[in-house]
Amino acid sequence: MIDVILGLQWGDEGKGKIADYLTPKYDLVARFQGGPNAGHSLEFEGKKFVLNTIPSGIFRQTTKNLIGNGVVIDPIRLMEEIDRIKEECPAFRERLLVSKKAHLILPTHRILDAASEAEKGDAKIGSTLRGIGPTYRDKIGRSGLRVGDILESDFRARYEAVRDAHLKQIQFFGFTDFDLGADEIKFFQAIEFIQSLTLVNSEYTIDEYIRGGQKILAEGAQGSLLDVEFGTYPYVTSSNTLSGGVCSGLGTAPKHIRKVYGIFKAYCTRVGSGPFPTELDDETGEYLRIKGHEFGATTGRKRRTGWLDLVALKYTCMLNGVDELIMMKGDVLNGMAELKVATAYRIKGEITQEFPSNLCSTEVEPLYETLPGWGENVNLNDGFEAMDQTFKDYVAFIENYLGTKIAVISMGPGRDETLVRS
Ligand code: GDP
Ligand code: IMO
Ligand code: MG
Repeated sequence: MIDVILGLQWGDEGKGKIADYLTPKYDLVARFQGGPNAGHSLEFEGKKFVLNTIPSGIFRQTTKNLIGNGVVIDPIRLMEEIDRIKEECPAFRERLLVSKKAHLILPTHRILDAASEAEKGDAKIGSTLRGIGPTYRDKIGRSGLRVGDILESDFRARYEAVRDAHLKQIQFFGFTDFDLGADEIKFFQAIEFIQSLTLVNSEYTIDEYIRGGQKILAEGAQGSLLDVEFGTYPYVTSSNTLSGGVCSGLGTAPKHIRKVYGIFKAYCTRVGSGPFPTELDDETGEYLRIKGHEFGATTGRKRRTGWLDLVALKYTCMLNGVDELIMMKGDVLNGMAELKVATAYRIKGEITQEFPSNLCSTEVEPLYETLPGWGENVNLNDGFEAMDQTFKDYVAFIENYLGTKIAVISMGPGRDETLVRS
């Protein structure tokens, strides 16, 4: 059976920390979409790691990890990432499996990403510029290259054909700010390295685990509001970030999915462009950014901050079929006098709890409930029941609105700053 953990907001909810925390209960942790646009942070024993493509189960020595077919892989970045973790994970070759059907991000995909963003000007998506959009575009357009292709004798010729097609598109954009030669040398070094990894028909791996009664954790990347279908289009990523994406991203049937855990921050952040109804463009927003260290794990960019948006959260709980919630970064709200939570939107004078179909062209006024804040020293040391009543009321307010239990609470980046309620 497969459990899923995924982000319910605009990414960076804390998926890496929780996937790592939950890993001991699972035999395999699998990424099913996204690529090195993700930055999943883990902290343990005084060490900090940021994973981009590798699943967050890699540091628990008894669990295997799979980069699934739905993921897009940049060989150069994957090689660098393995280099960063290999001391901590000496047996990574046995413990890290890579799907032969995962698509490859080529150097020219990254250049196309930059060219396309430059062309958009002020309307740019705010992409991480990791080549994600162009790679998924080639996948859907049936001209991409996959990990399995690197084992074929004509790989270089196929690479050159795709590269040349890309160069024509780049020329069409009039984009010249790149150095392909150096990147190509690194790319082919990385391809040789990827050939030495354990490359698998991962749909069979998943099937074997399921038939053997073993447990799989599917780890989402990005967040539900960045989903290409239901997110704040076009300010989204190019993959299916929702629980529905697990089936196509790993090659399995819906009946094998048992539980969906939805992760959210006790407030809200977004990095990159696009609508954000509860954004705080003021001192409180800056306070949350500094206290929550809200700077991108992948790009170092400032994350935009705002109040918790329950209208959006209810929408993404619905889309994912969330069974249990995981609330992160409650500690960042410690010591605030009062907190606001959006419970409805006013759109053209009408009050609604429905998330609009096109948030980009809809003027939304969030309607807030104001809740009292709690003290500076709230922590998990003595269990949930012993926590400050005001904190417990905040948790209950969210649970009541969403009709879903908050099963795990995180009050710090470390493994031990986590409370499982059930
Ligand atoms: P992900 O992309 O969803 O894995 O999240 P990121 O790693 O991009 O961002 C989450 C950030 O919050 C990381 O720096 C984590 O170390 C940190 N973090 C996770 N949980 C908590 C928490 O409960 N409290 C605090 N203060 N930081 C946390
Ligand atoms: P994790 O897994 C936050 C955002 C980018 C941009 C948009 C499109 O760490 O939560 P892309 O590079 O995919 O073309 O960018 O999506 N974005 C993320 N924001 N967390 C992420 O991943 C993100 N991955 C992409 O900032 O707005
Ligand atoms: Mg992140």
